[in-house]
Amino acid sequence: MLVDTFGRTATDLRVSLTDRCNLRCSYCMPPEGLDWLPKPELLTDDEVVRLVRLGVEELGVTEVRYTGGEPLLRRGIADIVRRTAGLTPRPQVSLTTNGIGLERLAAPLADAGLDRVNVSLDTLDRETFKRLAHRDRLDDVLKGLAAAAAAGLAPVKINAVLMRGVNDHEAVPLLRFCLEHGYRLRFIEQMPLDAQHGWTRDNMITADEILALLGAEYRLTPELPEERGSAPAESFLVDGGPATVGVIGSVTRPFCGACDRVRLTADGQVRNCLFATEESNLRDALRAGASDDELADRWRKAVWTKRAGHGIDDPSFLQPARPMSAIGG
Ligand code: GTP
Ligand code: 5AD
Ligand code: SF4
Repeated sequence: MLVDTFGRTATDLRVSLTDRCNLRCSYCMPPEGLDWLPKPELLTDDEVVRLVRLGVEELGVTEVRYTGGEPLLRRGIADIVRRTAGLTPRPQVSLTTNGIGLERLAAPLADAGLDRVNVSLDTLDRETFKRLAHRDRLDDVLKGLAAAAAAGLAPVKINAVLMRGVNDHEAVPLLRFCLEHGYRLRFIEQMPLDAQHGWTRDNMITADEILALLGAEYRLTPELPEERGSAPAESFLVDGGPATVGVIGSVTRPFCGACDRVRLTADGQVRNCLFATEESNLRDALRAGASDDELADRWRKAVWTKRAGHGIDDPSFLQPARPMSAIGG
């Protein structure tokens, strides 16, 4: 098991398959992109599967989520998913994507054993999308969403980050769209994880603000708190249900105390938290010929030192050196 000194157990493994992306969302990357990791530094497909297998078979991982950057840019993704779903005990296998490429890949991924997808969608307006993501790809995302639903990757969840003066007028239209299509929408507070270090508390749309925006149009009632478990989203019934909307208040309503996550970056580093300042290099150990036992030991030690929380409110808080796209969303 992967346990830490606060008694939390990490069972949810999030694996970044690439730091590259075909969008440039302003809360994540500058328009010109970043210096991508050189290919030899990335784990190969076999290395990814070896570490995921170790996590599942030896370390108690029960859920594997592939992220990026944009994980659909990884050529071997369907094969990686197939091999992950083939492990015993079979983990839940999910994907967090910007949706571009899902039109083509949703069916093959579902066939390979993918259980669920979470898709980022911050706006329904083409011009706003271009402004926010610096690419004209809204149509591709919408087609990808439809393909995911058609492929049975249910429930399709949508992640939306609201930004002041950019898309904060779209809270209600986004929810209406998701209710119409049967997608499960979650609004996310923006976190200080952008490569440009442009995050400010004042610009962040808080969970309270999101609820007020939605409250103008819908009656929201909290679902029972015990149903949240370790999920980051607080869930609300919309107009009495059964449809729900989620709010992920990572900053103002942190869920660190119940966190069950551990991350593996595309270059094979274990990170015990999005905001960790240290990583443990499994890739080099693996390439130097470490046994499964040695790798497992290293991984356990990396999780053991996980801090109590993200510490964004501490005066001494320092944004991690790596942006979200390199850590894995
Ligand atoms: P499910 O609820 O299992 O579908 O997945 P998820 O919500 O964990 O996954 P997703 O990748 O869609 O993440 C949604 C958002 O949750 C991210 O954009 C982050 O804002 C937030 N999040 C994910 N992991 C962490 C974490 O370890 N710490 C914090 N503070 N926030 C996280
Ligand atoms: N703050 C909050 N969420 C973010 N995401 C990317 N960068 C940030 C950030 N700075 C979200 C994306 C995606 C998920 C993996 O993380 O919208 O849905
Ligand atoms: Fe790409 Fe996701 Fe970052 Fe947007 S948030 S630029 S989709 S990695």
